Amino acid sequence: MSDLQAAAKKAVGEHVASMISSGMTLGIGTGSTAAKAVEALGRRIQQEGLQVQGVATSFAAERLARQHGVSLTTLDESPDLDLAFDGADEVDPYFTLIKGRGAAQTREKIVAARAKQFVVLVDESKMVDELGHRMPLPVEVVPMAVTPVMHVLRSLGAAPEIRMGMKKDGPVVSDQGMWVVDAMFDGITNPDHVNDVLLKTPGVVDHGLFIGMATQVLVGGADGGVQVLDKPRV
Ligand code: 5RP
Repeated sequence: MSDLQAAAKKAVGEHVASMISSGMTLGIGTGSTAAKAVEALGRRIQQEGLQVQGVATSFAAERLARQHGVSLTTLDESPDLDLAFDGADEVDPYFTLIKGRGAAQTREKIVAARAKQFVVLVDESKMVDELGHRMPLPVEVVPMAVTPVMHVLRSLGAAPEIRMGMKKDGPVVSDQGMWVVDAMFDGITNPDHVNDVLLKTPGVVDHGLFIGMATQVLVGGADGGVQVLDKPRV
């Protein structure tokens, strides 16, 4: 990550932390940008005695929240969240997202769906005109269904690959014990169609397209400034 990207991530993290007030229940996203928000939130908890509770979107987010003094709850105890924050890999003009570089997209979507406000934190490089030219779409799959699901992805025009572990032999195993297939498209021209087909495919747990969920996008600039986008660009 360049210094400029790091400054942008810190800026959006601090901005979303400043939107949080005592008594709120939060969705805590996963990834390096969401981590900046957790750090900034931790500072506010320590310095101002802010009282909040958060639902973590991954084991990684859970560990980070504990480290920064953010109290944790669950969707069983707190099914209605005031605000969820999370990063994204790509954001299109309609606020449709690709998420899941950290393989946390299933829990991230469950949590975001329960939040009144879903605030997406990105730097300028993540803003695209059309999704899926640079980043693959992560699809979480029940291991026994991986071959049929890859056939379906090919029929949608994608080149699918099972995501492999970096410091582990074999496939990445998600927090739910599933595998992740990364599907590289030559652009996703119709996200609704891809969403419909995937959600009707047995063995697909969920995927990284987030359609109609983001309520606000905070775009961090290289100068450390933050652009607040309240509604889709088109
Ligand atoms: C994890 C995610 C992340 O939020 C997304 O990949 C962005 O990560 P980063 O902020 O590190 O660029 O979806 O599953």
